[in-house]
Amino acid sequence: MKIPFNRPWIEQTELDALSAVIKEGRIGGNGPVCHEVERMLGEMVRVGHALLMTSCTHSLETAIRVLGLSTGDQVIIPSFAFPSAANAVLLCGAETVMADIRRDTLNIDPEDIERKITRRTRAVIPVHYAGISCDMGRIMDLAAAHGLKVVEDAAQCIGSAYRDQPLGSIGDIGCMSFHETKNVVCGEGGAFFTSDEELFHRAEIFREKGTNRSRFLAGDIDKYSWIDLGSSFVLSDILAALLRTQLGKLEAITGQRARIHRRYDEGLKGLADSGKIRLGQIPQDYRANYHIYYFLVEGGGRDTCLARLQEAGIRATTHFYPLHLSEMGKRMGSREGDLPVTEEVFRKLIRLPIYPGLEDSQVDYVIDVLQGILN
Ligand SMILES: Cc1ncc(COP(=O)(O)O)c(C=O)c1O
Repeated sequence: MKIPFNRPWIEQTELDALSAVIKEGRIGGNGPVCHEVERMLGEMVRVGHALLMTSCTHSLETAIRVLGLSTGDQVIIPSFAFPSAANAVLLCGAETVMADIRRDTLNIDPEDIERKITRRTRAVIPVHYAGISCDMGRIMDLAAAHGLKVVEDAAQCIGSAYRDQPLGSIGDIGCMSFHETKNVVCGEGGAFFTSDEELFHRAEIFREKGTNRSRFLAGDIDKYSWIDLGSSFVLSDILAALLRTQLGKLEAITGQRARIHRRYDEGLKGLADSGKIRLGQIPQDYRANYHIYYFLVEGGGRDTCLARLQEAGIRATTHFYPLHLSEMGKRMGSREGDLPVTEEVFRKLIRLPIYPGLEDSQVDYVIDVLQGILN
């Protein structure tokens, strides 16, 4: 049996949607399909404004720009993260300060955020790992107490919530990804969410080459021109059409992922009860989207376990190489031992295949193979 790690759920409906938009000739960016998808996302995430972007990375870069962060400012981020948030901060000339994660959710630890706040801290970027919320109650309290901006890296979070608040809607800005590895995909793409009018207008200008073209498209002005610094982060209507179809399937996609997640949890319970592995936890009142299925191998042997899964035709994998231990992180002065929980998790973590279309029999095969390896 060969089981890939991930497989986007693309059907004839997606192909039809692509073909229709191409035939109509709407292939540029920031067009009518984009606007429709932005309305859909705004409603789903319950924010004042949703802007489609070429990626979550570009959405994070826009966020740091529009917040006006620059030299001398510090931004607290987790080290257990994708490099996008760190790059966004550094590209503006600001400094990253890396915090450790919690053992239960693998999300940034609010106690470590608090320890790392200085007079120069301006913002924090909580990264919601696996589509499960950070402790946003505590993080928003800290932000209010210290006058910090909050940019949620909600790359993995379509459909997830902290209590009843959709992820991406809680901080000043939320950033999401529709990369081919996410629950809902358009190949490459992302979104920027905010309910702050001023941040929204600055972001609209930034993603349109520093022009007020969005106001021109809305019919507010009769020509557009260069008014501020900017780049080109508008999503093509072709990709927006793909995304629109995928968003229509969100419930079905999440349901399929939930089924697989539950089956892994049930099948691996014995290994967890005997202390050989530690399963991920979803806090009771958080809504998950089952983006990732992970567990931690206790007592060593993670790499052997991965190799044996591979031999059995199962593409399992690790996750985030800690930013503070990366080549770039070390150049910035970080050292092994700085963030012990992050380092431990990185050594122990395995992610298993999870995607709509993965059949129960395949999930059972993965469980059987794992039991054979770990028992
Ligand atoms: C937590 C996190 N942030 C940011 C990104 C970057 O997203 P994109 O590929 O859309 O730029 C990813 C992508 O995997 C991610 O997992």
